[in-house]
Amino acid sequence: MRRSLVMGNWKMNGSLAANQVLLEALLAKWQGVHKAEVAVAPVSLHLAQVGQLLSGSNIQLAAQDASAHASGAFTGEVAAAMLSELDCRYVIVGHSERRQYHAESSELVAKKAKAVLAEGMVPVVCVGETLSERDAGQTLAVISEQLSPVIALFGASLAQIVVAYEPVWAIGTGKTATPEQAQAVHAFIRDQLGAAGEQVRILYGGSVKPANAEALFAKTDIDGALVGGAALKADDFYAICRAAD
Ligand code: G3H
Repeated sequence: MRRSLVMGNWKMNGSLAANQVLLEALLAKWQGVHKAEVAVAPVSLHLAQVGQLLSGSNIQLAAQDASAHASGAFTGEVAAAMLSELDCRYVIVGHSERRQYHAESSELVAKKAKAVLAEGMVPVVCVGETLSERDAGQTLAVISEQLSPVIALFGASLAQIVVAYEPVWAIGTGKTATPEQAQAVHAFIRDQLGAAGEQVRILYGGSVKPANAEALFAKTDIDGALVGGAALKADDFYAICRAAD
């Protein structure tokens, strides 16, 4: 039985003041989310503050990215060990915004995921096709290409990752994949993961809101969500967490 996971990706949003307001509002209504696991991912600069605000709650800390390197001359990067020191439980890798704006290859994403696992945290590996790729009938080929270096590099530890399926055309656009569209890709991803597939949680991301969360979570292979915009609103994020519970 896979435990549901809802992760809020705050992207490059927030401030010390705004984070406090958001988390106080969220924690004030935080009764009734017991079964689902929940995490939030602020910018790395805010991890220490958010970790303190979350202490004593059952909301976990997550980071948005990690370096593939352990340490050294990599200006601007943050090593997985540094995230682990701040008690991060999850680290997102290969988000489409990293692939698109920072030219991250699937091989680099796999190395980042491995660096995260080596520090005792769980990599959340993001995959997803663009609209033109979907229209060209390439969705499954794209997902397969993005996953294959991870599958090759992880071997027996593959069961320890989380995968997030985020169709690029659904991110921040208000267009959600239908539960059926998402389910079809999730089932394909689970199949690609082979024997580990049954254990791996596969999250859906792309305009998840309180209004569509329940129908998405009702699908067999959708184990939770990676939430962007709605994670910045306490009421909406709480409602999505409740729907996964
Ligand atoms: O990581 C989160 C996703 O990119 C989804 O973002 O919920 O704003 O569409 P969104």
